[in-house]
Amino acid sequence: MIRPILIHPDPRLKKVCESVAEISADVRKLAEDMLQTMYDAPGVGLAAPQVGVMKRVIVMDCIKQPEAAPRPIVLVNPVVVWSSDDLSTYEEGCLSIPEQYADVQRPERVRVQWTDLDGAEQQEEFAGLWATCVQHEIDHLNGKLFIDYLGPLKRQMITRKMQKLKRDRARGDD
Ligand code: NI
Repeated sequence: MIRPILIHPDPRLKKVCESVAEISADVRKLAEDMLQTMYDAPGVGLAAPQVGVMKRVIVMDCIKQPEAAPRPIVLVNPVVVWSSDDLSTYEEGCLSIPEQYADVQRPERVRVQWTDLDGAEQQEEFAGLWATCVQHEIDHLNGKLFIDYLGPLKRQMITRKMQKLKRDRARGDD
């Protein structure tokens, strides 16, 4: 089931999400819906608060080549356990901030620990787009958006555009 994606500004995108206590049927259904919603958008990552669920769940698939096999990953309660000193800059976007992009600097590589849908602990080192994406999505679980890394003027300009987009959509000019 494709779920509607919240558009910034929305108070739910500014909150710290709760840890998942157990991998219930609800959590599995949420993850399945989030993957479907992400692929449909299309995007390379999605966090549960973006569909209005205040739980620490993210999904990703940063395989961009259309001929390559997909690699959907569901990360429950993800934690960055190590970050490289080396930084890299990517032009980031966000499904909650459609059609707005800006350069954000983050650690180039991160090691992340999480629980998978079988309840097993997983750990992996991510690099490149995967590293950017996993850090961007974990930020969502802490109420942080990529525009929070920008200067106040740029952030306000993007926020005003999103307010206008939401007004237009509410009026049905979409
Ligand atoms: Ni995002």
